[in-house]
Amino acid sequence: MVQINDVTTYTNIDGVGVIVLNSPPVNALSAAVRDGIHGGVQKALADADAQAIVLRCDGNTFIAGADITEFGKPPAGVGLGEVQRVLEESTKPVIAAIHGTALGGGLEVALVCHWRIAVPTARLGLPEVNIGLLPGAGGTQRLPRVVGPEVALEWMTAGTQVKAADALESGLIDALAPEDDLQGAAVALAKRVVAEQRPLRKLRDENAKVEAARGKPEIFAAFRKANAKKFRGFAAPEKIVQCVEAAVNLPFDEGLKLERKLFVELMHGDQSAAQRHYFFASRQAWQVPGLKKDAAIVPVQTVGVIGAGTMGAGIAMNFLNVGIPVHIVETQQAALDRGLKTIRTNYENTAKKGKLKVEAIEERMALVTGSLDLQDLSDCDLVIEAVFENMEVKKDIFGRLDRVAKAGAILASNTSALDLNQIASATSRPESVIGLHFFSPANVMKLLEVVRGDKTSDSVIATSMQLARKIGKVAVLVGVCPGFVGNRILGQRQREANQLIFEGAMPWAVDRVLYDFGFPMGPFAMSDLAGLDLGWNKEKSTGSTLREVLCEMDRRGQKTGAGFYDYDEKRTARPSTLVEGVIKQFAEKKGITPREVSDDEILERCIYPMINEGAKILEEGMASRASDIDVVWINGYGWPVYRGGPMHYGDRVGLPKVLTRMREFEAKYGPQFKPAKLLEELVATGRRFSDLKPAH
Ligand code: 3HC
Repeated sequence: MVQINDVTTYTNIDGVGVIVLNSPPVNALSAAVRDGIHGGVQKALADADAQAIVLRCDGNTFIAGADITEFGKPPAGVGLGEVQRVLEESTKPVIAAIHGTALGGGLEVALVCHWRIAVPTARLGLPEVNIGLLPGAGGTQRLPRVVGPEVALEWMTAGTQVKAADALESGLIDALAPEDDLQGAAVALAKRVVAEQRPLRKLRDENAKVEAARGKPEIFAAFRKANAKKFRGFAAPEKIVQCVEAAVNLPFDEGLKLERKLFVELMHGDQSAAQRHYFFASRQAWQVPGLKKDAAIVPVQTVGVIGAGTMGAGIAMNFLNVGIPVHIVETQQAALDRGLKTIRTNYENTAKKGKLKVEAIEERMALVTGSLDLQDLSDCDLVIEAVFENMEVKKDIFGRLDRVAKAGAILASNTSALDLNQIASATSRPESVIGLHFFSPANVMKLLEVVRGDKTSDSVIATSMQLARKIGKVAVLVGVCPGFVGNRILGQRQREANQLIFEGAMPWAVDRVLYDFGFPMGPFAMSDLAGLDLGWNKEKSTGSTLREVLCEMDRRGQKTGAGFYDYDEKRTARPSTLVEGVIKQFAEKKGITPREVSDDEILERCIYPMINEGAKILEEGMASRASDIDVVWINGYGWPVYRGGPMHYGDRVGLPKVLTRMREFEAKYGPQFKPAKLLEELVATGRRFSDLKPAH
């Protein structure tokens, strides 16, 4: 065995030169890895006893892509293009031996090898789109040549990771290897290729599949149309389509040139910066700063849920989905039956859509039981309370739960608004109490705010974070404050949206600006969808707020065919002149003279106070990092990932600009715009949110 460099070895096995990369955690194409491959190939070419070359990796995975941490830094080492050139032009056949994942630049390296072999558990794909990029090392030109333009379009714009069996079927790999002998099988394939004197296979020269699509622009038109909604706002998917068009219509090298040009454009753009930020933010959020490393993890084998409403039922499903039995306790049999029915119906609907096997419905339902007695939760390792938001009721439940639950059980509340420390004070074991704030629908929404009380133990926090990962959530640890992180920031946007409409911006203008920014819908369309009568009481309604007036007019949202908007039978929204009139009357009563409000003002008034509130949250230590706030907003509130979350957006816009505007708004509109101390400090010291160290 010869050491090529720190991360690469070369061994001649039976006449085949085997290059092995070992650069944890994912063998990303760092300068060292690129140098290592390059050096390894030179070594193999010079080795008179080697007739062929195998490229494989040690550790968990084949090369998982370019090294994202290198992006934006000055180039070092051999370039990826040169590495690919020596592989593709090698006079000795090169076999890529794949396990784990061959992703992005990793697959693009495999695609310049002459043959590919993979173990059955391997996955292959070009997921660059997820970080706002396109495959920039020939992937957009070679993949369509192997699997055809239509399939390549699907895979690259969705970032699909294909299983080895599908890769074999589509021609992306040439053979499957036994799971436990990839190297042996790769060497055997290399020897077979030599023995059969097979001509070297270079995908760049295989034109049949792209030529078949030439002169058929309708393929691309149909693809764009079918995906218009999914791609809205994102720059990368359209550029990927353009590259595949080039693969079909232009010679290989011309296509490659376009790919490079568009890749560089994306790489320097705001979107990729935002999506790369999110890539690391979503991974960091799992690391809780200051948590004891040896905090004991409580094994959670049974879960109790108190309350069988929509929330309770949705929460229960998360655990049933991963095979953890759940016992639900209600106060009324009818409510319990309704809850169990909700769970079954949800599963049946998923099965109807083909996303769940029919057998799985019964398997999961067999794991859920229900009763009317809190005592039945005495064996549960974790109990989650999901009753309505009333402190007295919650304290009563936690007091009783304290007497029933076994020692060491985790007692969680799903409260979205109440003081968790007060809830915990109703028990004799506040260290076991934690908030698990699921978002509705709880079986669908990814976000979970894990709320740490003053006394919550490290063990309970560590267990909750681990469990969240197990049930497929994106968990963010937050502190106890009104609205926690997500709703607290939402409150700022909501306040401004409600105020702006009295100043002259109509609800549809506010909605349009936020929709164009990238949110799935604006706040007024959202209210109409949720129902304006949430929390409204006909008897107590006094017509003193716009919402009350609309409800009194039976404009209670989409369900009544009218709310802020008018709806037709297909639920298409149209601005309502009637609502416009009502708003103007309100404005008059408030003594406000409506004026022209610019789109820029709408955006800044809605978004900058959110950033400011995020700064306050950090100041108070209610979130550990600015990027955690971004993770909350991207996963729970539809913040467009290509804008990186409110805090990243603030950094990108420039904190001095945010601060200046907040000061102007404060002078004009009042103290609700008072800049956070942290925002002022950061600006004064020329720093950004991303410069802050995680808070303990
Ligand atoms: N560059 C640098 N670091 C990377 C990386 C990459 N491409 N991929 C993963 N990492 C790091 C992660 O940040 C993480 O670091 P940490 O331990 O310090 O937090 C560590 O590797 C492990 O990653 P995960 O926690 O994600 O581990 P998993 O086992 O869950 O997933 C994976 C492994 C499937 C490989 C996943 O990490 C992944 O999807 N990685 C990104 C793949 C990708 O996007 N590749 C394309 C890159 S762009 C490109 O190739 C451009 C080219 O076309 C020119």
